[in-house]
Amino acid sequence: MAKSLSLEKILFSQGFGTRRYCQDLVWAELVKVNDVLMTDPDEKIDPEGSILEVDGQIWQYQAQAHVVFHKPSGYECSHKPSHHPSVYSLLPNPLIERGIQCVGRLDYDTTGLLLLTDDGQLIHRLTSPKKNIGKRYRITLAEPSSDVLVKRLLTGVQLYDEKTTSCANACEITGEYEIEMVIPEGKYHQVKRMVAAAGNHVTQLHRQAIGRFELPSDLAVGQWRWLSPEELRLATQTLE
Ligand code: URA
Repeated sequence: MAKSLSLEKILFSQGFGTRRYCQDLVWAELVKVNDVLMTDPDEKIDPEGSILEVDGQIWQYQAQAHVVFHKPSGYECSHKPSHHPSVYSLLPNPLIERGIQCVGRLDYDTTGLLLLTDDGQLIHRLTSPKKNIGKRYRITLAEPSSDVLVKRLLTGVQLYDEKTTSCANACEITGEYEIEMVIPEGKYHQVKRMVAAAGNHVTQLHRQAIGRFELPSDLAVGQWRWLSPEELRLATQTLE
């Protein structure tokens, strides 16, 4: 059944500021819903599928924020970055206000698929090693790829300070200096450390997929968009 909410609550839920500020936006006649100018912040609306316009910003209502982002190199996945700008600086303010978080961090120099959400359960589902959701990386190497390297990564390597060995779910040679590897978890610098432990060195790292969801080929570097329900379903499915 459709759920109606006051306009003020809807704006607040989307990250347009405090409840008071959202009221003011409506009173200042800065809010349209599906192209209709709104004047009453208490008006009840079913927001599902609505297009809001807030002070000129077009915004598709989303009960929960599930975002796909093509991460460029040179950005940290942190709200308080230490040496490089934050990926959050590339996203619109309402997303930050509603508290979206990266689903697992990528290093500042890693590029590719980054999911962000305000759904804590989803973060757990996608990052917990127990759920075995594979993350696939394209890895450029300093030394030529080899069957020995692939075998080591598949059998498992010992990382410093880790009790158990780390194994790739899948790994294959894709170029003279390139391999693709799937790992189920995201320990600190895991891919770089695994490759180093196997006797090579990562020069470039690009995440291609999470679960069965691939980085969309039409999403330019630095761009974001909402994830569709089908894409969300694919991301929560194991790769193999
Ligand atoms: N493993 C790494 O070493 N770095 C990343 O950014 C992601 C996985």
